[in-house]
Amino acid sequence: MAVKKTQPNIDTIVSLAKRRGFIFPSSEIYGGYGAIYDYGPYGVELENAVKREWWKEMVQERQDIVGLDSSIFMHPQIWKASGHVDGFADPLAECKKCNTRLRVDHLLEDIDVFADEKMTEDEINKIFNEHKAKIKCPSCGASDFSDAKKFSLLVKSNLGNFTDNWSKEPAYLRGETCQGIYVNFKNVVDSTRVKIPFGIAQIGKTFRNEIAGRQYVFRTREFEQMEMQYFTHPDKEMEEYEKLRKTRWDYYIKRLGLKEENLKWHQHENLVFYAKDAYDIEYNFPFGFKELEGVHARGNYDLTQHTKFSGVDLSYNDQKTGEKYLPHIIESSVGVGRTVLALLTDAYTEEELEGGGTRVVMKFKPTLAPIKAAVFPLLKNKPDLVAKAKDIFTELSKHFMCEFDDNGNVGKRYRRQDEIGTPYCITVDFDSLEDDTVTVRDRDTMKQERVKVGELFDFLSKRVL
Ligand code: GAP
Repeated sequence: MAVKKTQPNIDTIVSLAKRRGFIFPSSEIYGGYGAIYDYGPYGVELENAVKREWWKEMVQERQDIVGLDSSIFMHPQIWKASGHVDGFADPLAECKKCNTRLRVDHLLEDIDVFADEKMTEDEINKIFNEHKAKIKCPSCGASDFSDAKKFSLLVKSNLGNFTDNWSKEPAYLRGETCQGIYVNFKNVVDSTRVKIPFGIAQIGKTFRNEIAGRQYVFRTREFEQMEMQYFTHPDKEMEEYEKLRKTRWDYYIKRLGLKEENLKWHQHENLVFYAKDAYDIEYNFPFGFKELEGVHARGNYDLTQHTKFSGVDLSYNDQKTGEKYLPHIIESSVGVGRTVLALLTDAYTEEELEGGGTRVVMKFKPTLAPIKAAVFPLLKNKPDLVAKAKDIFTELSKHFMCEFDDNGNVGKRYRRQDEIGTPYCITVDFDSLEDDTVTVRDRDTMKQERVKVGELFDFLSKRVL
């Protein structure tokens, strides 16, 4: 068995994800809806596995991190305090020939010129004008662009606007989940036994008015973030930051099973004024190395801003030392969708089979696989085999995500399970009726072994939980 190719192109992933029920374009029967996607039956299992593993790593197995689920709608002042109302904007230019709107920082990045989305319009236009002649529109190839203009990424709603001008400030859908953590810092300190250093973690939906680019689930307008904010003494910020960087790197390799050669660190060159340091963990997506997660040392900016805007003192009183201070924050922030795309890319494998032909197999780590075991009766038209297979499915599905399949022949069922990454296929055959054993076939080696029905729970528990 030879491995033909391991790094797929984006069309291969998009097509497999659609064909096999991982990811669908949103509102597809209406022609789709820009930069928004739906997760199908296997996609939602993969998402759930990603969130479960992240929660285990960040909350369940830590004594010093607690969870939170803050609301999507928050007081509009929060977005003023955070800087999002005034500064959370992308620089866009329009191609004068085909009218496509494009991210200027991305156009410049493609010709290796750095521009930060945090720069002012004037600063960006200065760089853009110097290099415009070398840039071609990715849609039509023309080289004629308008000046860059900044467009806010915050998504407004009419929440609470029952009468005209009821509220001057629009309610925004949250543009990042961590603001909900900062504004609950005091609640968590007052209601639990946490002591600095400690973290608050949460997973939730985020909305951004992103310019639609063809980057699939890498950049969407609605997505889920998994964010952990760790509150430290000012003197300990950088020490904790280095610890966090190490645990986040190890998480991708050990817990998610990503190939180390597909990951790298990228240090930010231009830091926002309050940040001490900022790194991204980049993954080798089908369109190259791009940000998967941000790990940032944010100083005391967030709590300073919310103290100023809310009028509530968010300093921390150290009971042991008597010291009072505004904690510094280090952050880990990653999208569920980007993690799913990294997992789909990493898992995709094409293998040449000994008897000829190829098979596509998604080699997810078994703990992340959407379906842990598929149960088959050897033949669909033998009631005894079907009844025994159904009994096994009923028992195992109390503990693991399983699938029952009696369609087509066993070979076809294996191919289908390979493409959705199911680590084990269990077949009930005529011997099973005699000796209460089944054939268990391993996804990666394709080897088969006989296992007693009564030992299936232990067999799977050791391998997929
Ligand atoms: N609180 C910090 C923060 O939100 P960010 O770099 O804007 O920082 C953090 O986002 C992570 O969220 C990114 O590393 C990425 O994984 C994910 N993310 C950001 N924008 C996204 C988008 N439009 N679509 C999908 N995921 C996105």
